[in-house]
Amino acid sequence: MAGLFLTAVTLGAVSAGTPASAQDRAARGKALAETWCVRCHAIGEPQPSALSDAPSFEALASQPGFGSKHLANVLVAPHPVMPEFPLTNDDLAALEAYMQSLTAAK
Ligand code: HEC
Repeated sequence: MAGLFLTAVTLGAVSAGTPASAQDRAARGKALAETWCVRCHAIGEPQPSALSDAPSFEALASQPGFGSKHLANVLVAPHPVMPEFPLTNDDLAALEAYMQSLTAAK
């Protein structure tokens, strides 16, 4: 488990240093969010969350302590409402990049 978190954090650090690949990563995160998350969450388009309990991705990414480590915690040990996702560490880093791009654009 610790290894998974370390990898996710390391990937985040690498993407921060290379803007072009960070953009690719965010694009991949958007595709992942459209596949796995949009069913319940507002993932960036101006839309209400499909599930009223589910916070928008922009709101989640604005929270202190947000990052792929937090995502890993949430998604590896999903709370009862959320299903389990077959996501890799790289997928988590991509989702993080996409979610952070939502707040960076403001
Ligand atoms: C089946 C509906 C559903 C799907 C699909 C879903 N979520 Fe959620 N998610 C929720 C609900 C409802 C909450 C708020 C409930 C709570 O936090 O107790 C939530 C909360 C969260 C939180 C905040 C949890 C916390 O404790 O900080 C994150 C982060 C999150 N979701 C990320 C994702 C990501 C990323 C995906 C796609 C890989 C996803 N969710 C897919 C329903 C869903």
